[in-house]
Amino acid sequence: MPNTSRRVNDFQRENTRIPLWRWQSAIESRCVNIAELRQEYMRAGLSEAQADANPIKQFERWFEDALKAGVPLPNAMTLATVTASGAPSARIVLLKGVEDGAFVFFTNYRSRKGRELDARPAACLVLLWSDLERQVRIDGSVEKVTAAASDAYYATRPLGARHSAWASPQSETVADRSSLEKSMEEVKGNYPANPPRPAHWGGYRVVPSAIEFWQGRADRLHDRIAYARDGKGWKRQRLAP
Ligand SMILES: Cc1cc2nc3c(=O)[nH]c(=O)nc-3n(C[C@H](O)[C@H](O)[C@H](O)COP(=O)(O)O)c2cc1C
Repeated sequence: MPNTSRRVNDFQRENTRIPLWRWQSAIESRCVNIAELRQEYMRAGLSEAQADANPIKQFERWFEDALKAGVPLPNAMTLATVTASGAPSARIVLLKGVEDGAFVFFTNYRSRKGRELDARPAACLVLLWSDLERQVRIDGSVEKVTAAASDAYYATRPLGARHSAWASPQSETVADRSSLEKSMEEVKGNYPANPPRPAHWGGYRVVPSAIEFWQGRADRLHDRIAYARDGKGWKRQRLAP
């Protein structure tokens, strides 16, 4: 029997793939009311029986699904930090690994996020795999990875990215594009090959205290399975959507 609800969803998905500029012109010509953009979530469910007792294993399972589904930028995640005065601050970074139960990303330690993490080493990560109608939310404490781990990852980066880690004073004001490009040329002159890792560039690990898995369901009655640390293990609860 054909799965009608799935077909409806596919139809809606196709229609939300309209390039942004076309939405823009549709909005400008008042053809589209943003409040009326709706999607029914019909793909799958997440039950207590399906979810692994260990949220790291559950994350790995979902991450693999995201890879198999070919979702764009499956490792892109929102990293939320807190300023010294308690204001929220967020941006996207790339997840580069899940190691010893911690979520690892790399950045400039002197950047805005680096300074915020120095002052308040806590973060929230959010990953969205929209084609799978899934969100994962991770709360945790943050620490730097070892210098050896940062060296090892830095060495795997393309040469241009290794150069720009030196050339770009991330989050600082720069006069113009050409001053950045000049700085890049200088770095290339200083280190034509094999630049060493700048001490101000490296990894952080977010050690989770809570992880929530969200699966879209019909009628906005979504599944939310939330794990919280409980001694050496994890306890699990279902949250209302
Ligand atoms: C898809 C995507 C991936 C990104 N990945 C990283 C990353 O892994 N590390 C990083 O430092 N910045 C990354 N950025 C840039 C950050 O979003 C941000 O602009 C930069 O880190 C400066 O943030 P800050 O001023 O809050 O420190 C990425 C941006 C996008 C859109």
